[in-house]
Amino acid sequence: MTSKIVLITGASSGIGEATARHLAAAGHHVVLGARRTDRLRQLVAELTDAGHSAEYAPLDVTDLGSVQAFVDGAVARHGRVDVLVNNAGVMPLARLDALRVDDWNQMIDVNLRGVLHGIAAVLPDMTRRKAGHVVTVASTAGYRVDSPGVVYCATKFAVRAVSEGLRQESKDIRVTLVSPGFTRTELTHSGGDDEIRNAMRTLAESVGIDASAIAEAIGYAVAQPTGVDVSEIVVQATAQG
Ligand SMILES: NC(=O)c1ccc[n+]([C@@H]2O[C@H](COP(=O)([O-])OP(=O)(O)OC[C@H]3O[C@@H](n4cnc5c(N)ncnc54)[C@H](OP(=O)(O)O)[C@@H]3O)[C@@H](O)[C@H]2O)c1
Repeated sequence: MTSKIVLITGASSGIGEATARHLAAAGHHVVLGARRTDRLRQLVAELTDAGHSAEYAPLDVTDLGSVQAFVDGAVARHGRVDVLVNNAGVMPLARLDALRVDDWNQMIDVNLRGVLHGIAAVLPDMTRRKAGHVVTVASTAGYRVDSPGVVYCATKFAVRAVSEGLRQESKDIRVTLVSPGFTRTELTHSGGDDEIRNAMRTLAESVGIDASAIAEAIGYAVAQPTGVDVSEIVVQATAQG
């Protein structure tokens, strides 16, 4: 297997962290981005101590300049980006009539605009090289609207559309959408309505699967030969029903 240069957004916890561990253990070089650089520093130290290849850089996906610098830095150091895992996301839940407009904007900025920023940053180089792979982490919320997650669902429906559109436009670049169901991470630890958040946290902790299950699905897509595009994977807890 060829070692790939893999960039992961939102690698400081949850699915991003699990994906970093999985892909680094599979022999790839992982470049980890998030705002909590103390977490990233610790993870990179752990991975490199175990003999894997990893580095990190500060990243705010809501800022195109930050995403471009994250990608450009990796290209300058390694000559290319083989895989971008567009994973960063937030989920402050509340009913629409609670009018938490700042939360709506944050979800749009991180979950949708952040994914588009990632695509904008890697696409010119991948197009020029006629190679590359864009993996986007959506959600089962991208297939079914459930209150009180309406705006969260809207962002995930939107990234599903973006990923499918990118796949249709790309004859050389592989495009994968991975949609998790309830997964035990920090997603339900902050933001949104307190009562709803606590209920979702309890649910995720009781029926949710480990983030490593999602990392393995991403690893499967990454491991396929160049001509094979794993377009969509849904991975959810059996108990989710
Ligand atoms: N857990 C679930 O049940 C579930 C289900 C379906 C889909 N998902 C999706 O899975 C993805 C990962 O979430 P998770 O469950 O692993 O939750 P998590 O543990 O809270 O991880 C979210 C990650 O996103 C990063 N992030 C948030 N805002 C960011 C920003 N502005 N710039 C850069 N990074 C940012 C966080 O890092 P910093 O705070 O350090 O920046 C963190 O590393 C999300 O897209 C989420 O929607 C999760």
